[in-house]
Amino acid sequence: MVRLTVNGKTVEVPEGSTVLQAVRAAGVELPTLCHHDALTPYGACRLCMVAIEKPRRALVASCAYPVEEGMVVRTDDPEAVAARRLVLELLLSRCPQSDFIRELAAKEGVTQTRFGPPPPERAEELCVLCGLCVRVCREVIGAAAIGFIGRGMERKVGTPFDIQAEACVGCGACAEVCPTGAIKIEDRGDERILHTWNTVIKLRACAECGRFFAPEPLDFVQESFPELRELWELCPECRRKRTASQWLEVIRGA
Ligand code: SF4
Ligand code: FES
Repeated sequence: MVRLTVNGKTVEVPEGSTVLQAVRAAGVELPTLCHHDALTPYGACRLCMVAIEKPRRALVASCAYPVEEGMVVRTDDPEAVAARRLVLELLLSRCPQSDFIRELAAKEGVTQTRFGPPPPERAEELCVLCGLCVRVCREVIGAAAIGFIGRGMERKVGTPFDIQAEACVGCGACAEVCPTGAIKIEDRGDERILHTWNTVIKLRACAECGRFFAPEPLDFVQESFPELRELWELCPECRRKRTASQWLEVIRGA
């Protein structure tokens, strides 16, 4: 274990932990955006900045910085607070339409930005380039169907050449993890339309009720794990119903 202090409170966290984990262990609230517990540290948004006072003075992104024995961390350091507020102003300037960003900023007392609104062609922008969708697709799903494209103001997330992503399995994990709701996915008939990725995936029907629900590219899971066959044959609702009736039978037979 490593012992350190966060805002004067002593905490112990396992060796290899990040400063963010220590901050959370101390029960101190700190905003994050590009961090997700299921993904490797990224350190891109700089919203989780804190000040390290010992062993050497530094402002660091806590989600990507390792703890050290005897470290002294302050989340309320004026420079760290100013750094976080600056990031929030930049985010507000990029995505003023995002409720999520506005609420995140307001929590830190930021309701205005010095950097002005986005240009008219980007007025509805919701993507803050946190990279969560790109990383969940690569690290958790193993598909790597989307990635960052372009530089500077032109930087965005998309599929290769902005066309149908052959690697996309239509799982929807990208939309699930996106904090701002920037990714639009719609199930229409036997198709899942991933509007944001210009991609359409065929869906399989539930064996019981006939509702289309399972992306066809995920059929390989059924072949690889035959014991999970029911999971892929029945939609979540029919699975729930079947489980409930199985339990009822067990209870009646007891
Ligand atoms: S689409 Fe969402 S998850 Fe992906 S980078 Fe943009 S804000 Fe982050
Ligand atoms: S949450 Fe730490 S840099 Fe984004």
